[in-house]
Formats: sequence, structure tokens, C-alpha cells
Amino acid sequence: MRARRALLYMPGDDEYKIKKAAELTVDSVVLDLEDSVSMSCKKTAREMVAKSLAELDFMGSERLVRINPFSSGLAEGDLEIVLPSQPDGILLSKTKTAEDVQTLSKILADFEKEQGWENNSISILAIIENALGIINLKEIAQADPRLHALICGGEDLATDINAVRTRAGWELFYARSAVVLYAGAFNLQAIDMVTTDFSDAHALEEEALQSLKMGFSGKQIIHPNQIEPVQRAFTPDDEEIAYALQLIEKFEESNKNGQAAFALDGVMVDLPVIIRAQRLLKRAKAAGKLL
Ligand code: COA
Ligand code: MG
Repeated sequence: MRARRALLYMPGDDEYKIKKAAELTVDSVVLDLEDSVSMSCKKTAREMVAKSLAELDFMGSERLVRINPFSSGLAEGDLEIVLPSQPDGILLSKTKTAEDVQTLSKILADFEKEQGWENNSISILAIIENALGIINLKEIAQADPRLHALICGGEDLATDINAVRTRAGWELFYARSAVVLYAGAFNLQAIDMVTTDFSDAHALEEEALQSLKMGFSGKQIIHPNQIEPVQRAFTPDDEEIAYALQLIEKFEESNKNGQAAFALDGVMVDLPVIIRAQRLLKRAKAAGKLL
């Protein structure tokens, strides 16, 4: 699966920011039709997103569109206008049930067939941002082969459960952990919530590192300044790569001698540690750091 270390949002009716985003080096851009667009601008935003996708070169960034939830009555219209410009994927806001994902998948499948595009070529990333979405994670995570990622929407989730947002973030810890757990169980990517205070570089670094350690493979972002620190946090550094290579080499050696567990610098190493090392190398490769 492609690297999705940072997903940069911008309002779908903001031509300036969309053009700016096209020139930035970021894994994924998300042209938003949902909460960053006011009700009176929804139509303009759809047209602008369709035009931008068709005309701009996003220079290798994945081109994603966040649509409104089906319950809003706007989702079908969003898709009708943007799909002809062939986005790489759709972010489904406020995903509450497996049926939400399946309804979207059916529309995408019909459109791909009509256009003669490859089946399942447009991916789905489900945003989990309601208590109900968390409760239904088990079904949502298995809803459809088109589903690539579960995204944790922190602000809406906090609102839905009447939590007070704090810097430490414990009020959302269970929900974030649940997203990682179900993504792990069903082989999906887990993408973490936004750090809304884009002027606090320290908070961003701290949160991105915490996301990585919890098992997330990326994070949503809202400002160009957040790209570099977040993508760096999710990219293994040279030291980590060298250590992973050393672990794997030692493991192969010790296995030849009939030993599945061995000691390195006074620490026991066995299979789960090796699997993590292999995954770290895979992430390094996906980020272009290893051939
Ligand atoms: N995408 C692309 N460009 C962006 C951007 C984004 N998300 N956010 C800011 N920029 C651009 C600005 O246009 C500005 O460009 P300039 O230097 O050429 O004039 C530059 O980056 C610096 O921006 P800054 O002045 O610091 O911020 P701002 O006040 O213009 O915007 C926000 C602040 C929060 C309104 C803006 O970052 C934003 O719209 N973010 C996305 C919101 C969103 O989509 N939310 C939904 C998902 S949670
Ligand atoms: Mg929202």
C-alpha cells in the first residue's frame, strides 16, 4: 500500500490553497467538500474540486476528496460532480456503519464500470468520528475490499462524546487505540487526528511521535508547515534502518544455528521484534529511503 504519512486538507472552494497544495511535496492532498466548506458554497466547491483535479498536476501526491456524509443528502451530488475527474480516493466523513462504506463502494464500482476504468481503482478511506463509528469498527473494517484506511477524526469525536479537548488528549485515547486495533486486525492503514494548533511546532512533533508509537501510519494535517515534521516522524531515520538491518542479519544467522531467540546488546530478540524490523524497512522503502 502507498505511504500516507501526511494527508493535507484544504477547503474545496479555496482555489488559492488548492493551487498551492498542488506544488507541495506531500504524500496525499485532501480537497474537502465537508466541514471546511460553508453550506452556501457547497456547489461552488464541487465544481472547483472537479476542475482542479482535472487541470492541476499534483506532482505525485495522492489526490483525495472528502465528501459529505450520506446522511446530509449531499454525498451523491458530490460524487456525481467529482468522479469524472478521477480522484485517487474518497474520504467518507462521519462513517457510522459498514453500509455507509458499501453504499459508497457501489457508486464507485458502477462509475468505474461505466467509464471502463479498472475495478477498485478508486480507494475508500473511512473517517471514524462518531461514537457509533467506533462501536461499529469491527464491521466497518471488513466492509469492502476498496477500503484502505481508517482515519480518526478527533474534533468531531470529542464533540460527539461531550469530551473536553486537552493537550494530553486522554479523552480520545480509547477511540484512537480502537482505530489502530481494528486497522491492524483487518490489514488497513490507521491515520491519526489533526493537530489543530498549527502554530505550535512542539505539540505537533509530540503528537506525531505518539501516533507513530501507537501504530498509526500517518496523520491528517491542515497547514503546509505541518508537512515536513509529520512526514519526518513517520519516516524511519538512518539509525533505525541500520539497526533493523542488523537485527534481521543476526536473526538469519541465529536461525541457521537453530536458535529462534537471541540476545543483542543485552536485550532478547525474537520473531515479533524481527517482524517489526521488517515492517520498518517496508515503511522506509515506501517513503523512498531504501531501494
Ligand atoms: N493548504 C494549502 N495551502 C495552505 C493551507 C492548506 N491547508 N493552509 C495555509 N495555506 C497557505 C496560505 O494560503 C498561505 O499562503 P501564502 O503564504 O502564499 O499567502 C500560507 O500557506 C501560510 O498560511 P497562513 O497565513 O499561516 O494560514 P492561513 O491563515 O492562510 O490559514 C487555516 C489558516 C487554518 C485557515 C488554513 O491552514 C486552512 O484552511 N487549513 C485547512 C482547513 C481544512 O481544510 N479543514 C478541514 C479538515 S480538518
Ligand atoms: Mg469535521
